[in-house]
Amino acid sequence: MWKVQLHKINYDEREYQSVKEVLDSGWLTISQKTYDFEAAFAAFLGHDVRCLAVSNCTAALHMALLVCGLGGGDEIITPSLTFVADQNVTQMVGAENVLADITSMEDWSMDPDDIEAKITPKTKAVMIVHYAGFACDMERIAGLCKRHNLLLIEDCAHTPGACYNDSSNQGQALGTFGDISAFSFFGNKNIAVGEGGMVVTRDQELFNKLKGLRSHGMSVLSFDRYKGRAVSYDVESPGLNYRIHEISSALGLVQLQKLEEANNKRKKIVERYFERLDNIPSVSIPYRHFSRGKPNYHIMPILLSETTDRAAVIQSMKQDGVQTSIHYPAIQGFSAYKNKINKTPKAEYVCAHELTLPLYPDMMESDVDVVCAALVRALK
Ligand SMILES: Cc1ncc(COP(=O)(O)O)c(C=O)c1O
Repeated sequence: MWKVQLHKINYDEREYQSVKEVLDSGWLTISQKTYDFEAAFAAFLGHDVRCLAVSNCTAALHMALLVCGLGGGDEIITPSLTFVADQNVTQMVGAENVLADITSMEDWSMDPDDIEAKITPKTKAVMIVHYAGFACDMERIAGLCKRHNLLLIEDCAHTPGACYNDSSNQGQALGTFGDISAFSFFGNKNIAVGEGGMVVTRDQELFNKLKGLRSHGMSVLSFDRYKGRAVSYDVESPGLNYRIHEISSALGLVQLQKLEEANNKRKKIVERYFERLDNIPSVSIPYRHFSRGKPNYHIMPILLSETTDRAAVIQSMKQDGVQTSIHYPAIQGFSAYKNKINKTPKAEYVCAHELTLPLYPDMMESDVDVVCAALVRALK
């Protein structure tokens, strides 16, 4: 249907083989592939983190808030330019969202000054998102969380392979700064398995609680009983079923091995976009001169001018066979949040004018040219 679609998985024989191994093993729920995926992800992030594979990133974020004991009466400062999962999980534990705005039209990451301005005696945590795989200002955000004694939760849905640099830091993986961080392996992510996620922490006590929460608070998994390591189980605390599927872990393991190469391919495509888009006057590119570390080029967002009719552009590009998207509709516009959540003027402006162009590892430079030609036609 599309000449150039928004994203495309980069699977080959290796994913098929890994899934086949699971099917041949006769065991579909958490077992060796999941343990291997968790260990490989922890080694990949470094910094002594522990990783627990879960059903998706929303589950990981929900678990993070639950194990941190956040709930009624607490305020959590959340991003304004993000997927609504960040707000939803806050609501699901009974806490209140206070949105922090983005920094500027060039830097769409959460503004540390605005985060600090939103802190009240009820604030217990700051949840950040590294939009499109570009690191937030971690030096300032981690610093203010420490000063105000706030938990730091990183929504790392966009970040596998991205890192943060400051003057004293040679590149620290995103997801290793917070008390807990949450990754997504949804079908359009840099590690794509369909549905899957990872919850990450350095804190052994939090890790133990997360492990219990993932599987009904049970002391052993079915796999332990299958292996004859246990006959029955205890329930040590109330929990949920946020387990990952063994097939997702099998895919995740291979995708992790391919990540660096895939992110490098994304980078090349983004550079081609820069060449083409720099010549289009009514378009600007966020993070064009980014200097806080290495991004992973999760998506290709652009900002249309205030007078451009975005819906007409999307329609025209669709007619030319180019799929586009919006990251993200404003939280304040959703029925569930209208008039119930604070304004964030800069993020709301971006939400009204942002357009996401196709980007995936195996995209060709000629695809970029097709997209940009369609964009130019649409803008006329
Ligand atoms: C920024 C952000 N946070 C959270 C999520 C939720 O991830 P999942 O679909 O794995 O629950 C997404 C998914 O698109 C996302 O983009």
